[in-house]
Amino acid sequence: KARSMALFDDAYPANPHPALAELRQAGPAHRVTSPAGIPFWLVTRWDEARRVLTDPSLSKQQPMDGLPPHLRSALTTQMLLRDPPDHTRLRRLVSAGFTPRRIEALRPGIERITDRLLDGFAADAEVDVIDRLAVPLPFEVICELLGIPAAERGPFRAWSDTIIVGGADLVEALSQSVAYFRDLLDRKRAQPADDLLSALAGIVDDGDRLSDDELVGMALLLVVAGHETTANLIGNAVHLLSRNPEQRSRLRDDPGLAPAVVEEVLRMASPSATSTYRVTTRPITLGDTTIPAGEQVLVSLLAVNRDPRRFADPDTFDPGRGDGGHLAFGHGIHFCLGAPLARLEARIAVSRLFARYPDAAVAVAPSELRWRTGVLMHGLRSLPVRLHAAAA
Ligand code: HEM
Repeated sequence: KARSMALFDDAYPANPHPALAELRQAGPAHRVTSPAGIPFWLVTRWDEARRVLTDPSLSKQQPMDGLPPHLRSALTTQMLLRDPPDHTRLRRLVSAGFTPRRIEALRPGIERITDRLLDGFAADAEVDVIDRLAVPLPFEVICELLGIPAAERGPFRAWSDTIIVGGADLVEALSQSVAYFRDLLDRKRAQPADDLLSALAGIVDDGDRLSDDELVGMALLLVVAGHETTANLIGNAVHLLSRNPEQRSRLRDDPGLAPAVVEEVLRMASPSATSTYRVTTRPITLGDTTIPAGEQVLVSLLAVNRDPRRFADPDTFDPGRGDGGHLAFGHGIHFCLGAPLARLEARIAVSRLFARYPDAAVAVAPSELRWRTGVLMHGLRSLPVRLHAAAA
């Protein structure tokens, strides 16, 4: 029990792996109580994680009765929080917008945004890569894709952070976002444009269409899921490459290595530190541990992606392992819809950054890095990077 308290320690976000390794070693699943007194189970081994993520007796549907009704109606319709058959229907209606082919067509736009952001580095010796690249790139890309007008994007960044982090302003941020999307969707219906929200608002599939609540929930899910984790991925990639200069020079010499590098970052520094919550509807036995019915379960993606039962030498950054078995995007029917987009953005961002600044390296000691807090996200809040090699 005491062991799991390390998860809530101030030092945890900067280096979660020792605590997770200890839990993983002790067993496949652990009952944890948050400092706020909320109990849940944390799954720490790869095999058991796959079972939890595919067993239909675990439900994604949560009552959310802490939320006011006008928010609950939009949020509980999000596909991430639905079981089949609702989930199947919602995912089918949106998935045409996220096929690898559709996403590949976004490449020129993503390259253009990346180059513009990198152009902005020209006058600087040192930049915060989170602020100047990792956050704005995926944020602009998802806003473009959905059709959120540039002049209206400002407030969204703040709302989105609050939605991820939670806390006192959560309900306010959700209210503002939901109201904004209701209004935007009205405008898209009146004046459809060539964007995903217009397409979703107009979609009719076999006589089926998305309700207003479903559209708002979908829009919110896509904006928040679409950039918070991708920002973590880009930041974690720059961080890991900077600490592994040999891999950094290999990538610089051969940008074709970017996909392998990004997969290894996803495994080693999983940007979404956990899955989302599932609730058991009947007892489930994982190894020597039985989780009773009615309990909340989280999979620690950070822990399972370094499970030595599955990955040889799991703490070594080795883009050459060519394994593909990580669960950083989840597994099963809720497997990340945006995975092709996140991968493309991260590949472009890291290969272009290091092509332009081959010696770019983190400018501060590991102990000075600031990490996002909480157990759900694994990413840097800021990442000061020195762009040029120090003069000899
Ligand atoms: C689902 C991770 C980027 C949209 C998920 C899940 C994970 C994940 C782990 C499954 C959660 C669970 O089963 O409990 C990530 C990571 C990303 C990323 C690590 C970036 C590195 C994106 C992007 C988008 C997106 C760019 C959208 C444009 C979604 C959606 C779901 C989802 C809609 C729900 C799918 C469903 O319920 O069927 N993501 N994601 N994600 N992700 Fe991502």
